[in-house]
Amino acid sequence: MNAPQSPAQTQVSPARIRVFDTTLRDGEQSPGCSMTPPQKLVMARALAELGADVIETGFPASSQSDREAMALIGRELRTPVLAVLSRCLRADVDISLQALEAAQRPRLHVFLSTSPLHREHKLRMSRQQVLDMAVESIAYAKRFIDDIEFSTEDGTRTEEDFLHEVVAAAIAAGATTINIPDTVGFTTPEEIRGLFRRLITQVPGAGNVVFSAHCHNDLGLAVANTLAAIEGGARQVECTINGIGERAGNCALEEIVMALKVRGAFFEADTGIDTRRLVPTSQLLQRLVGMHVQRNKAVVGANAFAHESGIHQHGMLRHRGTYEIMRPQDVGWPDTQMVLGRHSGRAAVEQRLRALGYYLEEGELDLVFTDFKALCEQQRVVTDADLQALMQDTGDAE
Ligand code: KIV
Ligand code: ZN
Repeated sequence: MNAPQSPAQTQVSPARIRVFDTTLRDGEQSPGCSMTPPQKLVMARALAELGADVIETGFPASSQSDREAMALIGRELRTPVLAVLSRCLRADVDISLQALEAAQRPRLHVFLSTSPLHREHKLRMSRQQVLDMAVESIAYAKRFIDDIEFSTEDGTRTEEDFLHEVVAAAIAAGATTINIPDTVGFTTPEEIRGLFRRLITQVPGAGNVVFSAHCHNDLGLAVANTLAAIEGGARQVECTINGIGERAGNCALEEIVMALKVRGAFFEADTGIDTRRLVPTSQLLQRLVGMHVQRNKAVVGANAFAHESGIHQHGMLRHRGTYEIMRPQDVGWPDTQMVLGRHSGRAAVEQRLRALGYYLEEGELDLVFTDFKALCEQQRVVTDADLQALMQDTGDAE
């Protein structure tokens, strides 16, 4: 038998992970997802209610609409930190700072590519030029704002010695959050865990800043990579509602939050998100941008808590833990759904009939179940109305 664990072994207080929501910036960059300033305000209110620690509202130097959105949101939302994205250019920084004027808790988010591919083909700059440009813009911004996040675009494909050098210089220049984006969703959990561990333990000044993970989903690894970054020491995660974002999207907020909630003991980490607001927030975004999530999308998809097969339904009727690892109510769904169809068994049909007020004897149930199976050959799903009609027919035949 295992020895009982001492309290010291079981009571690890979870690390508080800050949720940086970028639905309104990186999310909005996904094709077909642009939002007007009033729509962004509606979404920002929902994100604040959800408990996002930081809301990135847009990229003010890139559009008048983003400047307006930031002003609208800044005038109304007082609690979350409000961030805007900016290139490492004085002109961009000035526009961004102006856009942030109304914000109670403003953050400037400056970014610059660091990888060899981006340096050579996009920026046409040397390592030294990239380093100087990052330091110059952070030091310039620091004259006007304290909360500065610096992102090393394409950070996970950057030579590690150079990444350490840039991060150290950014911290020395005044950055308070260091974000390492996996811009093209290329890394793996093992790689990013090690990368964060080494940055946090080896870079001078690392202990004075928050490290942040920003993972894209090109290989479907964004959530797994973000979790691994947390294991490596990241204490801020960047994500979007429904995982919208460039190409295959960003780390999905609802998935990373629920992974930490359900497996919190394993990761020794949790967020401050009100998980009961996840489904309403997801549905709001779907309505606003008209991009709908697939039925089998984790947490917020219509099938996430639906069961059709007889074996699963039978297990669920005995104990919901057999096939559910979260309660639907905890993420904002009204309840589990027992869908009746070709794969359903007698137990589920009987339970549904009872819920509709029909209490059948064994023989009666046999008859109805035969009719139910016949109906399933003609249609995919049998609704309550279909069952009531079946009962009517059975009654008429008697
Ligand atoms: O994916 C990325 O590299 C970004 C940065 C601009 C933060 O979105
Ligand atoms: Zn991104």
